Amino acid sequence: MENIVLIGFMGSGKTTIGREIALLGGRFLLDTDQIIEQNMGKSIREIFESVGESGFRRIESQLILWLSANVKNAVIATGGGMPIYNDVSYLGKVFWLDMGFESILKRLNAKEQEKRPLMGDVSKVRQLYDERKSMYKNQSKYIISGDASAKEIARRIVECVDKEVQ
Ligand code: S3P
Repeated sequence: MENIVLIGFMGSGKTTIGREIALLGGRFLLDTDQIIEQNMGKSIREIFESVGESGFRRIESQLILWLSANVKNAVIATGGGMPIYNDVSYLGKVFWLDMGFESILKRLNAKEQEKRPLMGDVSKVRQLYDERKSMYKNQSKYIISGDASAKEIARRIVECVDKEVQ
């Protein structure tokens, strides 16, 4: 059974939707940022401070190799930059959670922004969002509109996977 892989910009709901997919049964959620934090014993912000973004990206690449060799039938919520620097199709069936920039900003309160070292000046974040959109599209097999409840999006994704299996 292939993994379900969720990609998308920061704040597009990958972890929340991944959890809803896990709650539907049969799969456990793996969140790549959380795995990296647990293994390094540091927050993402602290990792950026100690080894820089390039060091963080190297860890992400190693994690992809490990997950693709060792994990199946999971739902994998990726960090927003993972598919920008790596081919994530090795991980499984890739779904892009396509959400408008304004909705993303609304979802990320100050505390959530603080956790993310690449969040800052809104115009810079918007530029990053615009630059990345086509890359998310190219890396995904399915595009899912983020414009529904997490439960509903999870249901749509699982329905899509089940249909393919039949
Ligand atoms: C990043 C997104 C973050 C985290 C890191 C870098 C990015 O994950 O991996 O701060 O480059 O978009 P989320 O997408 O879960 O916020």
